[in-house]
Amino acid sequence: MKQHDTRANRRVFLGGATAALLLHACGSASETEREQQAQGASSGGGGTVGGGGGNAGGGGDPVPLECTPTADNLLGPYYRAGAPFRDDLTEPAMAGTRVSVRGRVFGPDCERLAGAVLDVWQADDTGGYDNDGVGDPADGAYVLRGKIVSDAEGHYAFRTIIPGNYLNGAQYRPAHIHVTTSADGYEPLTTQLYFESDPYNAIDPFIIDSLIMNLSEGVNGELEAAFDFVLAPVPG
Ligand SMILES: [Fe+2]
Repeated sequence: MKQHDTRANRRVFLGGATAALLLHACGSASETEREQQAQGASSGGGGTVGGGGGNAGGGGDPVPLECTPTADNLLGPYYRAGAPFRDDLTEPAMAGTRVSVRGRVFGPDCERLAGAVLDVWQADDTGGYDNDGVGDPADGAYVLRGKIVSDAEGHYAFRTIIPGNYLNGAQYRPAHIHVTTSADGYEPLTTQLYFESDPYNAIDPFIIDSLIMNLSEGVNGELEAAFDFVLAPVPG
């Protein structure tokens, strides 16, 4: 359901949300704590690393001991096929808090998956998608959409903005990034990545804890988040 007539309200909220996210980033977990979170997540939570494994803070690149396929999450109505390959979804004049998301793609035996394709799409700073009122749909431009390919070690990274919240029915959805991850020989995964400290996390009916990313502040002053994907094998 499209209810984008309340963007003014979202903007009021976003100021607080961004501040909360930044405050959280300043007090983010230590590398040791992150690694502990990673171990817990990888052994039972669905492959979320949340800053562990040397992603957000840069501290080595250990392979998890156990890889549970990442939880799937709804596709939603705003997917568009044909997004360009690029690792920076931002544009210079684009509003929004910059964040880099990085991590790895694994198979169920924790094997690194090179050449996996992440197809990413998200709302802009006001909570709107490019096929729902942002920009000019007639020009066919892809706004805040892109495909990213994992490297030989299974690493991926892309730069974007913290998405805005938008109404879904009677309540706002927490900020989230949609991702479909695919690799030859594995089941495609459609899911969403969320951000810790978003006040709507607590009331959202779709969110899954293992899909919530921690945030930290990178050396360039921009936010960083990390997430490792684990794909399931093709049945049979
Ligand atoms: Fe969405």
